[in-house]
Amino acid sequence: MQVKRVAVIGCGTMGAGVTHVAAEHGYEVSVVEAGPAAAEAALRRVDDSLQRTVSRGRLTQAGAAAALDRVTMTTDLEAIADADLVIEAVFEDVALKCDVLGEVDRITAPDVMIASNTSTIPLVILAGATRRPESIVGCHFFNPVPAMKLVEVIRTPTSRPEHVAAFADFATALGKTPVVVNDVPGFVGNLLIVPYLLDAIRAFERGVADKESIDEVIKLGFNHPMGPFALSDLIGLDIVHDMAASMYEEYKDPRYSPPPLLKQYVRLGWLGRKSGRGFYSYNR
Ligand SMILES: NC(=O)c1ccc[n+]([C@@H]2O[C@H](COP(=O)([O-])OP(=O)(O)OC[C@H]3O[C@@H](n4cnc5c(N)ncnc54)[C@H](O)[C@@H]3O)[C@@H](O)[C@H]2O)c1
Repeated sequence: MQVKRVAVIGCGTMGAGVTHVAAEHGYEVSVVEAGPAAAEAALRRVDDSLQRTVSRGRLTQAGAAAALDRVTMTTDLEAIADADLVIEAVFEDVALKCDVLGEVDRITAPDVMIASNTSTIPLVILAGATRRPESIVGCHFFNPVPAMKLVEVIRTPTSRPEHVAAFADFATALGKTPVVVNDVPGFVGNLLIVPYLLDAIRAFERGVADKESIDEVIKLGFNHPMGPFALSDLIGLDIVHDMAASMYEEYKDPRYSPPPLLKQYVRLGWLGRKSGRGFYSYNR
């Protein structure tokens, strides 16, 4: 199957990035947001994202304008009816995602591929909200979508191999590198990166070294662009916490249990870059 028309539901951080990249690569994109104000903000997010790419010299102003022309913003879910790929990117909330996917199932033709962008929710739960679990694949784009090359494409035991392959082809057409992984909590990326981040926090709690030194060891010793504390602040400490809690719930392995210091920072509202303070302080 070949993707021509894409629908994106939920145009926040991830949805806007996916919309930008799909429109930049020539796809017509119908975007559905929750209400008029959210839709207006979402269109601005897509425009800002395109303009950032222009300012980095990777897209012309005319290219950005043409891409924005390919985006149709609406609050009417029925607008997804003619899409051949629907990407759901609403909040990481199981009940909300199940609701939305049930509606997508009702509105779209039976052979339309439905992809859910989730960080940690098992795809089989989301697929179960539809009458065609075989049409559901997971996609895990990375933030910021225009810059990050990787897309994890998640297959469940019931996903149709043609859909998994078609989504991987779509990701390739967006200039991304798809990696197909099975539907396990955390997929591959978060399964490996979350315990690493938590181990760094535990080492700091135990007084092994201060956070700056731990970051320096990882940067200089292993050639990572940033250390675990800078990375946690970038991801958002609430997100790191929630991913860890959700994997702990599934695996009951203490490696995934959020350490007390992380819980405390989240309770204080010290969420990292987005709140101006996390492990480090940021001028906003
Ligand atoms: N932010 C990240 O770094 C990141 C990375 C990978 C995956 N994800 C996953 O991607 C998904 C989206 O995350 P995000 O960070 O973009 O969230 P976000 O909060 O930035 O955006 C969610 C958007 O969904 C919209 N929305 C909510 N209910 C809706 C509805 N019923 N219909 C239409 N739109 C609706 C909201 O108005 C909002 O604009 C989540 O499942 C998240 O776990 C996020």
